[in-house]
Amino acid sequence: MSLAGETLPDFPWDTLAPYKELANAYPGPVADLSIGTPVDQTPEIAIVALREAEQSPGYPPALGTPELREAMVNWWSRTRGATVDPDGVLPTIGSKEMVALLPSLLGITGNVLIPEVAYPTYDVGARLAGATPIPIDTASDPATWPAGDLLWLNSPANPNGHVLDREQLRKIVAWSRQTGTIVASDECYAALPWDEPYVSEGVPSILADDISDDKTGLLALYSASKQSNLAGYRAALIAGDPAILGPMIEVRKHMGFLMPGPVQRAMTAILNDDEHVAQQREVYRRRRDELMAACASAGLRPDPETAAGLYLWLEDAKGEADAWQIVDALARRGILVAPGTFYGEQSRMFVRMSLTGTDDVIAEAVKRLAEPLFP
Ligand SMILES: Cc1ncc(COP(=O)(O)O)c(C=O)c1O
Repeated sequence: MSLAGETLPDFPWDTLAPYKELANAYPGPVADLSIGTPVDQTPEIAIVALREAEQSPGYPPALGTPELREAMVNWWSRTRGATVDPDGVLPTIGSKEMVALLPSLLGITGNVLIPEVAYPTYDVGARLAGATPIPIDTASDPATWPAGDLLWLNSPANPNGHVLDREQLRKIVAWSRQTGTIVASDECYAALPWDEPYVSEGVPSILADDISDDKTGLLALYSASKQSNLAGYRAALIAGDPAILGPMIEVRKHMGFLMPGPVQRAMTAILNDDEHVAQQREVYRRRRDELMAACASAGLRPDPETAAGLYLWLEDAKGEADAWQIVDALARRGILVAPGTFYGEQSRMFVRMSLTGTDDVIAEAVKRLAEPLFP
């Protein structure tokens, strides 16, 4: 017998250890821009709400409190243009658990189509369910895709910040209806658009009414981690077709997946407020502009298709150095980034640089990037 953990890929972050040592040798603190973990303050409204719920002797509702359920439905309508069925929302303990568990919770054992350049957990979740992950280009013509029981989308994408436009989402919905494939769209970076038309119109959601009024077969994930610096609270949600969510909720009840009551209160507060999200976006916009300018001086070129999200997706402007050579050169300047290979072999010429450094860390990274990495 083989244990589930033995069949999974190695945890890739462990392979960065030697580059951490190299970065540590640089004078001054390491500018760690490898992991996308938020570093700014959790908003006061979340902290106040959490404290108000500190007396929580009873079990919290698996479905979410009525206030949280209402806040989720309103959030989809107000910020994403999506009319979601009141029975079509569920709080999740961060969105990573849902990415990892969705195929298992749905009992899928066939093909799971996943983005070919992707957050590794789509692949892991398919394997854990005993299903077969099949990488595809989610921006290509759906008519060319193999058959699958479930399709994962990630828009804006981690790591490359690509956004699936409305036309592509409509094609995908039509394909889902023809083939009976469930579509799960991970939209956890939707609050961070940088380019038009997404700054003015917002990043499109698979659940938006201008994609389809009918949400049959469609699910979308969202997370408070990035937009509200709430990664430590583990607050996220899934929404969409109640016919898929209903049976899945029954399985989750058996498994005891409950978002803690105080976190439900905090999440209700942040979903009802857009102001702090706009402020956080401006912080990331400033850091992004500063890092982009500095990367140009260092001879790194950002992917022109990046339109949103929390990362710069960079390659050697001369097209010579590969991901690990760039990781090495940056580590020698005290900057840590993730090699593109963590997100698929075809990304071997790219590195991912996160915008999640404090202002001091970003200022330091900008100084260290002033000279070309590969003169
Ligand atoms: C694409 C994507 N999905 C899901 C997650 C998980 O986020 P969380 O579990 O904090 O909601 C991440 C985290 O980095 C991510 O990049």
